[in-house]
Amino acid sequence: MVVVSDITKVYGQDAVSRLIRRRLVKALDRVSLEIRGGEVFGLLGPNGAGKTTLIKILCGLVLPDGGTATICGFDILRQRTRALACLGAVLEGNRNVYWRLTVKENLTYFGHLKGWIGRRLKRRIAWLLDYFGFKDLAREPAANLSRGWQQRLAICVALVNDPPILLLDEPTLGLDVESARSVRDLVQRVAADQGKTVILSTHHMELARHLCRRVAVIDRGRVLTCSDAHALFQGASTQSYRARVAELPPEALERLRVRLGSVAPKAVIGTDDHEVVITLPDVRWESLFDMLSLLRDEGCNFLSLSRGESDLDEVFLDVVRAGREADGPGGSGA
Ligand SMILES: Nc1ncnc2c1ncn2[C@@H]1O[C@H](COP(=O)(O)OP(=O)(O)OP(=O)(O)O)[C@@H](O)[C@H]1O
Ligand SMILES: [Mg+2]
Repeated sequence: MVVVSDITKVYGQDAVSRLIRRRLVKALDRVSLEIRGGEVFGLLGPNGAGKTTLIKILCGLVLPDGGTATICGFDILRQRTRALACLGAVLEGNRNVYWRLTVKENLTYFGHLKGWIGRRLKRRIAWLLDYFGFKDLAREPAANLSRGWQQRLAICVALVNDPPILLLDEPTLGLDVESARSVRDLVQRVAADQGKTVILSTHHMELARHLCRRVAVIDRGRVLTCSDAHALFQGASTQSYRARVAELPPEALERLRVRLGSVAPKAVIGTDDHEVVITLPDVRWESLFDMLSLLRDEGCNFLSLSRGESDLDEVFLDVVRAGREADGPGGSGA
């Protein structure tokens, strides 16, 4: 559906940048990816990784310096108009719709821009208003909508001409938890019911795990890994366990550290105000029971056992760290 081959982008090569001696930044370095029809594909990466640049290249807003990409078989440079007709995009931020226009006027305006007119457009807009839950808000100016509903409208507008592909750059950035969840569910529904191919960039690992079938981790313009989301996050529990036991003498603490290290290498032992806190960033049952029986064997005075934070971020950071170690120092400077 979307094939990206060896795309490279170096910012700072234009005449103005050269004149003011702007530093060259290699935002993308021979990026190759293949996104299949009907899948939700995630672009993950730290700040400055190149995610937005890649999305802008696919939307025709930024020209690559090398490589090529095809969308539904159309080359983004040589068959630009046909390639662009296959996608709708929501860029980062809240400038994707006109604030002074109402919900319906936005849809009509962008529908016309995409070449849709008359009854066909009217029918499409009526369907979209209903599907996206905008029926009672159709006459409301976009400026009056909450940030969550503005984002919903931006997605709705991106789909006005019913393109097979939807590009979303950080779709939940800046949204509160409830709005982010509602946008997430909407994207899932659009992909599942409408068969759309969705390419989204995000920092939220939980969102990626929930929505994406496959993900690529990008850092400093390079693809570090591209894999099945399940495979990437497997082993990463959504939750960790934390056990608190009463203070231990130093030698018992050391013994516990060594023994625990052999049964649960990821466990972290810390001491805190007359107690020992053991965090197990994993919900694999064997590890949990191993930890508990070890605590019993060591005669620990057990205080509590609780569920802790998600460690999905850790998996992501591990991939980035490993990529940087393999790569050595350096980065986006070209
Ligand atoms: N118009 C531009 N001119 C010069 N450099 C740019 C431009 N746009 C982006 N860059 C640089 O290119 C690199 C990649 O930026 P990009 O915005 O694509 O990253 P990103 O992965 O989307 O980051 P974020 O998570 O912060 O949104 C960064 O080093 C950025 O500073
Ligand atoms: Mg970005």
